[in-house]
Amino acid sequence: MEATVSTRDSRSERRGGSVHAPHGGSVYAPLLQIENLTKVFHIRQGFASQDFHAVDKASIVIDSDKPEIFAVVGESGSGKTTLAKMVLGMESSSEGILRYKNRVINDISRREMKSWFYREVQPVFQDPFAAFSPLKRIDSYLYETAQNYKMVADKKEAPRYINEVLSAVGLTLAEIAGRYPNELSGGQAQRVAIARALITKPSLIIADEPVSMLDASLRMSIVNMFRKLKEDNNVSVIYITHDLATAYYTGDRIAVMLRGWIVEMGPTERVLGNPLHPYTQNLKTSIPNIKSEEAWNEKIDLAVIETDEYTRTGCKFAGRCPAVMDICHDNVPPSVVHEGRSVKCFLYDDAVDADKKRMLTPAAV
Ligand SMILES: Nc1ncnc2c1ncn2[C@@H]1O[C@H](COP(=O)(O)OP(=O)(O)OP(=O)(O)O)[C@@H](O)[C@H]1O
Ligand code: SF4
Ligand SMILES: [Mg+2]
Repeated sequence: MEATVSTRDSRSERRGGSVHAPHGGSVYAPLLQIENLTKVFHIRQGFASQDFHAVDKASIVIDSDKPEIFAVVGESGSGKTTLAKMVLGMESSSEGILRYKNRVINDISRREMKSWFYREVQPVFQDPFAAFSPLKRIDSYLYETAQNYKMVADKKEAPRYINEVLSAVGLTLAEIAGRYPNELSGGQAQRVAIARALITKPSLIIADEPVSMLDASLRMSIVNMFRKLKEDNNVSVIYITHDLATAYYTGDRIAVMLRGWIVEMGPTERVLGNPLHPYTQNLKTSIPNIKSEEAWNEKIDLAVIETDEYTRTGCKFAGRCPAVMDICHDNVPPSVVHEGRSVKCFLYDDAVDADKKRMLTPAAV
Protein backbone atom coordinates (compact mmCIF):
# COMPACT_ATOMS: atom_id res chain seq x y z
CA MET A 1 0.00 0.00 0.00
CA GLU A 2 1.26 3.46 -0.78
CA ALA A 3 2.18 5.96 1.89
CA THR A 4 -0.61 8.43 2.23
CA VAL A 5 1.25 11.43 3.59
CA SER A 6 4.82 12.36 2.85
CA THR A 7 6.89 15.51 2.73
CA ARG A 8 7.15 16.98 -0.74
CA ASP A 9 8.18 20.13 -2.52
CA SER A 10 5.79 22.95 -3.28
CA ARG A 11 4.35 21.53 -6.52
CA SER A 12 1.21 20.44 -4.74
CA GLU A 13 0.62 23.99 -3.49
CA ARG A 14 -0.25 25.12 -7.01
CA ARG A 15 -3.28 22.87 -6.82
CA GLY A 16 -4.06 23.84 -3.26
CA GLY A 17 -3.09 20.41 -2.01
CA SER A 18 -0.68 21.31 0.77
CA VAL A 19 -1.06 21.94 4.45
CA HIS A 20 1.45 23.95 6.44
CA ALA A 21 3.77 22.16 8.82
CA PRO A 22 4.63 23.79 12.19
CA HIS A 23 8.17 24.59 11.00
CA GLY A 24 6.77 26.66 8.13
CA GLY A 25 7.41 24.16 5.33
CA SER A 26 4.62 22.36 3.55
CA VAL A 27 3.47 18.80 4.10
CA TYR A 28 2.37 17.04 0.98
CA ALA A 29 -1.27 16.00 0.86
CA PRO A 30 -2.64 13.77 -1.87
CA LEU A 31 -5.48 14.89 -4.11
CA LEU A 32 -7.61 12.07 -2.81
CA GLN A 33 -6.94 9.87 0.17
CA ILE A 34 -9.14 6.84 0.70
CA GLU A 35 -8.09 4.61 3.56
CA ASN A 36 -9.97 1.59 4.89
CA LEU A 37 -13.15 3.16 3.55
CA THR A 38 -16.24 1.15 4.39
CA LYS A 39 -19.93 1.41 3.66
CA VAL A 40 -22.33 -0.78 5.59
CA PHE A 41 -25.89 -1.11 4.32
CA HIS A 42 -28.67 -2.55 6.46
CA ILE A 43 -30.97 -4.82 4.51
CA ARG A 44 -34.39 -5.69 5.87
CA GLN A 45 -35.91 -9.01 4.86
CA GLY A 46 -39.29 -9.40 6.54
CA PHE A 47 -38.62 -9.22 10.27
CA ALA A 48 -34.92 -9.94 9.89
CA SER A 49 -32.29 -7.37 9.05
CA GLN A 50 -28.75 -7.92 7.92
CA ASP A 51 -25.70 -5.70 7.60
CA PHE A 52 -23.43 -6.03 4.64
CA HIS A 53 -20.32 -4.20 3.60
CA ALA A 54 -20.89 -2.82 0.10
CA VAL A 55 -17.40 -1.30 0.31
CA ASP A 56 -15.06 -2.96 2.75
CA LYS A 57 -11.79 -1.30 3.83
CA ALA A 58 -10.94 0.15 0.43
CA SER A 59 -7.69 2.14 0.22
CA ILE A 60 -6.67 4.26 -2.78
CA VAL A 61 -4.44 7.31 -3.04
CA ILE A 62 -4.56 9.70 -5.99
CA ASP A 63 -1.51 11.93 -6.12
CA SER A 64 -1.91 15.67 -6.39
CA ASP A 65 1.23 16.42 -8.36
CA LYS A 66 0.76 14.01 -11.24
CA PRO A 67 -2.63 13.57 -12.89
CA GLU A 68 -3.63 10.00 -13.63
CA ILE A 69 -6.47 7.87 -14.87
CA PHE A 70 -7.38 5.42 -12.16
CA ALA A 71 -9.62 2.63 -13.40
CA VAL A 72 -11.98 0.76 -11.09
CA VAL A 73 -13.31 -2.51 -12.48
CA GLY A 74 -15.36 -5.39 -11.17
CA GLU A 75 -18.55 -7.24 -11.94
CA SER A 76 -21.99 -5.86 -11.18
CA GLY A 77 -22.63 -5.28 -7.49
CA SER A 78 -18.99 -5.11 -6.46
CA GLY A 79 -19.33 -1.68 -4.83
CA LYS A 80 -17.91 0.57 -7.54
CA THR A 81 -20.77 3.08 -7.56
CA THR A 82 -21.02 3.07 -3.77
CA LEU A 83 -17.32 3.97 -3.62
CA ALA A 84 -17.86 6.75 -6.19
CA LYS A 85 -20.86 8.12 -4.30
CA MET A 86 -18.88 8.32 -1.09
CA VAL A 87 -16.09 10.23 -2.85
CA LEU A 88 -18.70 12.58 -4.32
CA GLY A 89 -20.24 13.18 -0.91
CA MET A 90 -23.51 11.63 -2.13
CA GLU A 91 -23.29 8.75 0.32
CA SER A 92 -21.86 8.95 3.83
CA SER A 93 -19.13 6.50 4.79
CA SER A 94 -19.49 4.12 7.71
CA GLU A 95 -15.81 3.90 8.58
CA GLY A 96 -12.40 4.88 7.32
CA ILE A 97 -10.63 7.95 6.01
CA LEU A 98 -11.87 9.92 3.02
CA ARG A 99 -10.10 13.19 2.30
CA TYR A 100 -9.92 15.49 -0.67
CA LYS A 101 -6.93 17.84 -0.54
CA ASN A 102 -6.63 16.97 3.11
CA ARG A 103 -10.24 17.92 3.89
CA VAL A 104 -12.52 15.24 5.34
CA ILE A 105 -15.27 15.04 2.71
CA ASN A 106 -18.02 14.11 5.19
CA ASP A 107 -17.19 17.22 7.25
CA ILE A 108 -17.39 19.78 4.43
CA SER A 109 -20.41 22.03 4.89
CA ARG A 110 -23.17 22.03 2.28
CA ARG A 111 -22.23 25.58 1.36
CA GLU A 112 -18.61 24.67 0.76
CA MET A 113 -19.58 21.50 -1.07
CA LYS A 114 -21.36 23.74 -3.56
CA SER A 115 -18.90 26.57 -3.75
CA TRP A 116 -15.62 24.63 -3.53
CA PHE A 117 -15.86 20.84 -3.63
CA TYR A 118 -18.08 20.51 -6.71
CA ARG A 119 -15.94 23.04 -8.49
CA GLU A 120 -12.98 20.72 -7.88
CA VAL A 121 -14.59 17.28 -8.17
CA GLN A 122 -17.06 16.67 -10.95
CA PRO A 123 -19.11 13.59 -11.75
CA VAL A 124 -19.87 12.09 -15.15
CA PHE A 125 -22.55 9.41 -15.17
CA GLN A 126 -23.54 6.55 -17.42
CA ASP A 127 -26.60 8.03 -19.12
CA PRO A 128 -25.88 11.48 -20.57
CA PHE A 129 -29.55 12.06 -21.35
CA ALA A 130 -30.52 11.56 -17.70
CA ALA A 131 -28.29 14.53 -16.83
CA PHE A 132 -30.27 16.93 -19.04
CA SER A 133 -33.93 17.88 -19.12
CA PRO A 134 -35.43 17.14 -22.55
CA LEU A 135 -37.17 20.52 -22.40
CA LYS A 136 -34.07 22.60 -21.90
CA ARG A 137 -31.53 23.65 -24.52
CA ILE A 138 -28.33 21.79 -23.89
CA ASP A 139 -26.03 24.82 -24.18
CA SER A 140 -27.95 26.51 -21.36
CA TYR A 141 -26.40 24.00 -18.92
CA LEU A 142 -22.95 25.18 -19.94
CA TYR A 143 -23.86 28.87 -19.60
CA GLU A 144 -25.46 28.28 -16.20
CA THR A 145 -22.48 26.33 -14.84
CA ALA A 146 -20.03 28.96 -16.10
CA GLN A 147 -22.04 31.75 -14.50
CA ASN A 148 -22.86 29.95 -11.22
CA TYR A 149 -19.19 29.20 -10.63
CA LYS A 150 -18.13 32.65 -11.84
CA MET A 151 -15.87 31.19 -14.49
CA VAL A 152 -16.52 34.23 -16.68
CA ALA A 153 -16.46 37.90 -15.76
CA ASP A 154 -19.64 38.71 -17.69
CA LYS A 155 -22.19 37.24 -20.08
CA LYS A 156 -20.34 38.53 -23.13
CA GLU A 157 -17.30 36.44 -22.25
CA ALA A 158 -19.27 33.21 -21.79
CA PRO A 159 -19.46 32.00 -25.45
CA ARG A 160 -15.70 32.30 -25.87
CA TYR A 161 -15.05 30.37 -22.66
CA ILE A 162 -17.67 27.69 -23.43
CA ASN A 163 -16.26 27.24 -26.92
CA GLU A 164 -12.81 26.77 -25.43
CA VAL A 165 -14.10 24.08 -23.06
CA LEU A 166 -16.10 22.37 -25.82
CA SER A 167 -13.01 22.19 -28.00
CA ALA A 168 -11.43 19.94 -25.34
CA VAL A 169 -14.18 17.39 -26.04
CA GLY A 170 -14.08 17.82 -29.81
CA LEU A 171 -17.20 19.99 -30.15
CA THR A 172 -17.97 23.62 -30.96
CA LEU A 173 -20.67 25.86 -29.58
CA ALA A 174 -22.06 26.29 -33.10
CA GLU A 175 -22.70 22.53 -33.28
CA ILE A 176 -24.84 22.40 -30.16
CA ALA A 177 -26.21 25.94 -29.71
CA GLY A 178 -29.99 26.03 -29.40
CA ARG A 179 -30.34 22.26 -29.66
CA TYR A 180 -32.31 20.05 -27.29
CA PRO A 181 -30.76 16.87 -25.83
CA ASN A 182 -32.81 14.56 -28.07
CA GLU A 183 -31.32 16.30 -31.11
CA LEU A 184 -27.85 15.03 -30.16
CA SER A 185 -26.34 11.56 -30.54
CA GLY A 186 -25.40 9.62 -27.39
CA GLY A 187 -21.72 10.34 -28.03
CA GLN A 188 -22.36 14.08 -28.50
CA ALA A 189 -24.53 14.24 -25.37
CA GLN A 190 -21.83 12.47 -23.31
CA ARG A 191 -19.25 14.91 -24.68
CA VAL A 192 -21.45 17.83 -23.57
CA ALA A 193 -21.84 16.17 -20.14
CA ILE A 194 -18.06 15.95 -19.89
CA ALA A 195 -17.72 19.56 -21.11
CA ARG A 196 -20.10 20.63 -18.37
CA ALA A 197 -17.90 18.80 -15.87
CA LEU A 198 -14.87 20.65 -17.26
CA ILE A 199 -16.41 24.14 -17.06
CA THR A 200 -15.30 24.54 -13.45
CA LYS A 201 -11.71 23.45 -14.23
CA PRO A 202 -11.88 20.48 -11.88
CA SER A 203 -8.87 18.55 -10.59
CA LEU A 204 -10.77 15.27 -10.38
CA ILE A 205 -13.51 13.70 -12.48
CA ILE A 206 -15.40 10.67 -11.20
CA ALA A 207 -16.73 8.92 -14.28
CA ASP A 208 -19.08 6.06 -13.45
CA GLU A 209 -19.60 3.84 -16.50
CA PRO A 210 -19.39 6.84 -18.84
CA VAL A 211 -19.15 4.78 -22.04
CA SER A 212 -21.29 1.76 -21.35
CA MET A 213 -24.31 3.19 -23.20
CA LEU A 214 -22.28 4.18 -26.24
CA ASP A 215 -21.38 2.25 -29.37
CA ALA A 216 -18.04 0.44 -29.31
CA SER A 217 -16.52 2.94 -31.77
CA LEU A 218 -17.58 5.93 -29.64
CA ARG A 219 -16.26 4.35 -26.45
CA MET A 220 -12.76 4.58 -27.78
CA SER A 221 -13.09 8.27 -28.62
CA ILE A 222 -14.44 9.13 -25.16
CA VAL A 223 -11.75 7.19 -23.28
CA ASN A 224 -9.09 8.72 -25.52
CA MET A 225 -10.52 12.08 -24.55
CA PHE A 226 -9.95 11.28 -20.88
CA ARG A 227 -6.32 10.63 -21.70
CA LYS A 228 -6.08 13.95 -23.51
CA LEU A 229 -7.76 15.80 -20.63
CA LYS A 230 -5.24 14.32 -18.28
CA GLU A 231 -2.34 15.47 -20.44
CA ASP A 232 -3.66 18.89 -21.49
CA ASN A 233 -5.83 19.94 -18.53
CA ASN A 234 -4.07 18.23 -15.61
CA VAL A 235 -7.27 16.43 -14.63
CA SER A 236 -7.21 13.12 -12.79
CA VAL A 237 -10.03 10.72 -13.62
CA ILE A 238 -11.46 7.86 -11.62
CA TYR A 239 -12.79 5.75 -14.45
CA ILE A 240 -15.33 3.14 -13.30
CA THR A 241 -16.19 0.46 -15.81
CA HIS A 242 -17.18 -3.13 -16.52
CA ASP A 243 -15.12 -2.95 -19.64
CA LEU A 244 -11.64 -4.32 -19.05
CA ALA A 245 -10.58 -3.38 -22.55
CA THR A 246 -11.17 0.37 -22.12
CA ALA A 247 -9.69 0.18 -18.63
CA TYR A 248 -6.59 -1.42 -20.12
CA TYR A 249 -6.18 1.26 -22.79
CA THR A 250 -6.92 4.20 -20.52
CA GLY A 251 -5.92 3.44 -16.97
CA ASP A 252 -2.53 4.29 -15.53
CA ARG A 253 -3.48 2.28 -12.47
CA ILE A 254 -6.35 -0.05 -11.77
CA ALA A 255 -8.24 -1.40 -8.78
CA VAL A 256 -10.18 -4.64 -9.18
CA MET A 257 -13.19 -4.84 -6.87
CA LEU A 258 -14.97 -7.94 -5.63
CA ARG A 259 -17.90 -7.65 -3.21
CA GLY A 260 -16.60 -4.44 -1.69
CA TRP A 261 -12.95 -5.50 -1.50
CA ILE A 262 -10.13 -4.22 -3.63
CA VAL A 263 -8.55 -7.56 -4.47
CA GLU A 264 -5.79 -6.36 -6.78
CA MET A 265 -4.41 -2.88 -7.41
CA GLY A 266 -1.42 -1.50 -9.26
CA PRO A 267 -0.19 -0.26 -12.64
CA THR A 268 -2.77 -1.33 -15.25
CA GLU A 269 -0.30 -2.95 -17.61
CA ARG A 270 1.10 -5.02 -14.80
CA VAL A 271 -2.26 -6.03 -13.29
CA LEU A 272 -4.06 -6.82 -16.53
CA GLY A 273 -0.93 -7.96 -18.37
CA ASN A 274 -0.20 -10.53 -15.69
CA PRO A 275 -3.09 -10.76 -13.21
CA LEU A 276 -2.24 -12.50 -9.96
CA HIS A 277 -5.54 -12.67 -8.10
CA PRO A 278 -7.70 -15.60 -9.25
CA TYR A 279 -10.66 -13.21 -9.62
CA THR A 280 -8.71 -10.82 -11.89
CA GLN A 281 -7.54 -13.84 -13.87
CA ASN A 282 -11.14 -14.92 -14.16
CA LEU A 283 -12.24 -11.46 -15.36
CA LYS A 284 -9.43 -11.34 -17.90
CA THR A 285 -10.24 -14.71 -19.43
CA SER A 286 -13.76 -13.38 -20.04
CA ILE A 287 -12.32 -11.32 -22.90
CA PRO A 288 -10.42 -13.50 -25.31
CA ASN A 289 -7.73 -11.02 -26.28
CA ILE A 290 -7.56 -7.78 -24.40
CA LYS A 291 -5.54 -6.16 -27.18
CA SER A 292 -7.76 -7.26 -30.04
CA GLU A 293 -10.15 -4.95 -31.81
CA GLU A 294 -12.97 -7.42 -31.16
CA ALA A 295 -12.54 -6.74 -27.47
CA TRP A 296 -14.46 -3.50 -27.99
CA ASN A 297 -17.54 -5.45 -28.94
CA GLU A 298 -17.03 -8.11 -26.33
CA LYS A 299 -19.27 -8.06 -23.30
CA ILE A 300 -17.58 -9.45 -20.23
CA ASP A 301 -19.35 -12.57 -19.15
CA LEU A 302 -20.10 -11.55 -15.61
CA ALA A 303 -20.25 -14.38 -13.14
CA VAL A 304 -23.55 -15.08 -11.48
CA ILE A 305 -23.81 -12.95 -8.38
CA GLU A 306 -23.78 -15.14 -5.33
CA THR A 307 -25.76 -13.53 -2.61
CA ASP A 308 -23.69 -15.16 0.11
CA GLU A 309 -20.42 -13.66 -1.09
CA TYR A 310 -20.94 -10.35 0.64
CA THR A 311 -21.51 -12.03 3.98
CA ARG A 312 -18.86 -14.76 3.82
CA THR A 313 -16.53 -15.07 6.79
CA GLY A 314 -13.40 -15.91 4.80
CA CYS A 315 -12.38 -14.92 1.30
CA LYS A 316 -15.34 -13.64 -0.68
CA PHE A 317 -14.13 -15.51 -3.76
CA ALA A 318 -13.77 -18.87 -1.98
CA GLY A 319 -16.98 -20.27 -3.46
CA ARG A 320 -15.79 -19.71 -7.01
CA CYS A 321 -12.01 -19.85 -6.73
CA PRO A 322 -10.23 -22.70 -8.52
CA ALA A 323 -7.25 -22.32 -6.16
CA VAL A 324 -9.24 -22.28 -2.90
CA MET A 325 -7.47 -23.70 0.17
CA ASP A 326 -8.88 -24.66 3.57
CA ILE A 327 -7.60 -21.44 5.12
CA CYS A 328 -9.65 -19.37 2.64
CA HIS A 329 -13.02 -20.48 4.00
CA ASP A 330 -12.74 -18.99 7.47
CA ASN A 331 -10.06 -16.33 7.22
CA VAL A 332 -9.86 -12.98 5.49
CA PRO A 333 -6.81 -12.90 3.20
CA PRO A 334 -4.30 -10.10 3.79
CA SER A 335 -3.39 -7.51 1.14
CA VAL A 336 0.24 -8.12 0.28
CA VAL A 337 2.56 -6.39 -2.15
CA HIS A 338 3.68 -8.84 -4.81
CA GLU A 339 5.26 -8.20 -8.20
CA GLY A 340 4.59 -4.47 -8.05
CA ARG A 341 0.94 -4.46 -7.07
CA SER A 342 -1.17 -5.19 -3.99
CA VAL A 343 -3.07 -8.47 -4.02
CA LYS A 344 -5.53 -9.72 -1.43
CA CYS A 345 -5.07 -13.47 -1.55
CA PHE A 346 -3.50 -16.23 0.57
CA LEU A 347 -1.60 -17.49 -2.49
CA TYR A 348 0.81 -14.58 -2.03
CA ASP A 349 0.96 -14.72 1.74
CA ASP A 350 4.37 -16.00 2.86
CA ALA A 351 2.83 -17.30 6.08
CA VAL A 352 0.91 -19.98 4.13
CA ASP A 353 2.89 -23.15 3.28
CA ALA A 354 3.96 -23.20 -0.35
CA ASP A 355 2.94 -26.85 -0.79
CA LYS A 356 -0.69 -25.93 -0.02
CA LYS A 357 -0.77 -23.35 -2.82
CA ARG A 358 -2.00 -24.15 -6.28
CA MET A 359 -0.81 -21.21 -8.36
CA LEU A 360 -2.87 -20.49 -11.44
CA THR A 361 -2.18 -18.87 -14.75
CA PRO A 362 -4.99 -17.02 -16.54
CA ALA A 363 -5.16 -19.85 -19.06
CA ALA A 364 -5.82 -22.36 -16.30
CA VAL A 365 -8.80 -20.51 -14.86
N1 LIG B 1 -28.75 2.43 -0.91
C1 LIG B 1 -28.50 1.10 -0.87
N2 LIG B 1 -29.11 0.33 0.08
C2 LIG B 1 -28.85 -0.99 0.17
N3 LIG B 1 -28.00 -1.65 -0.65
C3 LIG B 1 -27.39 -0.93 -1.61
C4 LIG B 1 -27.60 0.48 -1.78
N4 LIG B 1 -26.83 0.92 -2.82
C5 LIG B 1 -26.18 -0.17 -3.27
N5 LIG B 1 -26.51 -1.26 -2.57
C6 LIG B 1 -25.97 -2.63 -2.76
O1 LIG B 1 -24.56 -2.54 -2.60
C7 LIG B 1 -23.91 -3.44 -3.50
C8 LIG B 1 -22.94 -2.66 -4.36
O2 LIG B 1 -23.68 -1.84 -5.24
P1 LIG B 1 -23.00 -0.85 -6.27
O3 LIG B 1 -24.09 -0.14 -6.99
O4 LIG B 1 -22.00 -0.02 -5.57
O5 LIG B 1 -22.26 -1.87 -7.24
P2 LIG B 1 -21.59 -1.60 -8.65
O6 LIG B 1 -20.26 -2.26 -8.61
O7 LIG B 1 -21.62 -0.17 -8.99
O8 LIG B 1 -22.55 -2.42 -9.63
P3 LIG B 1 -22.89 -2.11 -11.18
O9 LIG B 1 -21.68 -2.54 -11.94
O10 LIG B 1 -24.07 -2.97 -11.45
O11 LIG B 1 -23.18 -0.65 -11.32
C9 LIG B 1 -25.02 -4.12 -4.28
O12 LIG B 1 -25.30 -5.37 -3.69
C10 LIG B 1 -26.18 -3.17 -4.15
O13 LIG B 1 -27.40 -3.86 -4.26
S1 SF4 C 1 -7.68 -16.20 -0.77
FE1 SF4 C 1 -8.08 -18.33 -1.36
S2 SF4 C 1 -10.19 -18.34 -2.16
FE2 SF4 C 1 -9.48 -16.22 -2.07
S3 SF4 C 1 -8.75 -15.83 -4.09
FE3 SF4 C 1 -6.97 -16.44 -2.88
S4 SF4 C 1 -6.81 -18.66 -3.13
FE4 SF4 C 1 -8.82 -18.06 -3.90
MG1 LIG D 1 -22.45 0.94 -10.56
